[in-house]
Amino acid sequence: MMQSFEEQNAEYVAYIEKYLDENCFHHDSEPQKDLFSSMRYSLLAGGKRLRPIFVFDFCRMCGGDWKQAVTFAAAIEMIHTYSLIHDDLPCMDNDDYRRGKLTNHKVYGEAIAVLAGDALLTAAFSYIAKAPYSAEMRIVAVDVLSECAGEIGMVGGQVLDMQSEERQCTEQEVLDIQSRKTGALIRAACMLGVLAAGGNREQLCYAAGFASHLGLAFQIRDDMLDVIGNAEELGKAVGVDSVKNTFVQLYGLEKCENMVRSHTEQALNYLKLFQDNEFMTQLANQLVNRTV
Ligand code: IPE
Ligand code: IPE
Ligand code: MG
Ligand code: MG
Ligand code: MG
Repeated sequence: MMQSFEEQNAEYVAYIEKYLDENCFHHDSEPQKDLFSSMRYSLLAGGKRLRPIFVFDFCRMCGGDWKQAVTFAAAIEMIHTYSLIHDDLPCMDNDDYRRGKLTNHKVYGEAIAVLAGDALLTAAFSYIAKAPYSAEMRIVAVDVLSECAGEIGMVGGQVLDMQSEERQCTEQEVLDIQSRKTGALIRAACMLGVLAAGGNREQLCYAAGFASHLGLAFQIRDDMLDVIGNAEELGKAVGVDSVKNTFVQLYGLEKCENMVRSHTEQALNYLKLFQDNEFMTQLANQLVNRTV
């Protein structure tokens, strides 16, 4: 019998949670215990695990064994978690809560939080290196992930985000920020899923197209939730982005709601290339009205 959307989603989340818990950063014989504890604190703090889900489901849609892609899924979640630890630091967004818990630096101090982020980023590439695929494919995966996470991807977007504070940006500038700081890692996740299945160039392009639009929809919704969301439900503070340049600042909530819908529809167009795309279609549609 076919699994329902909820069952499939729960299976993906449980699989990555178990893998991260059982396989990551135990190193019991090493003396730098605070570092491992800090890394695991944020990595195992919950969250929606969307990027691993994108890896798994693009792998599945392209005919691959999604469970085998778990090292790729873990790698992208490590990079996402590091980006959140650093994003929350006093020198960046200065947030006290994340995923319903105190932020990493509030528990371990700023120095350990910076270093835990550094170590998560570094470890991600070690997990890619050890993935059960050909050397050629792992090199392509490293290339995709480093480009999306680095200076022209997520880190580049975070820089533009910081530099844009308290000045009025154009629509193009906000698009540049969002597509880098959030879209790039979502793009990496979808592309890693295709790669894990041995997918072709066309599938990679369509996965990237899907992710670009979905990433924009996702960040616009994130910015809306900063205004209309509930801090307890979200697990992070709201009302903290008024100094930021967001589409909500530019156009207001109503237009943003339409933009989320329109980017999601454009994302869904790219899914037509993939057979058996019901799960991803439903996920994208659910994210339109997400409250967490
Ligand atoms: C939060 O990402 C940061 C953004 C890129 C908007 P998520 O909303 O995916 O955070 P978690 O992983 O569920 O905590
Ligand atoms: C964060 O964007 C994007 C990255 C961490 C790369 P935000 O600063 O809007 O994310 P939240 O709202 O703190 O989760
Ligand atoms: Mg930020
Ligand atoms: Mg933030
Ligand atoms: Mg935000």
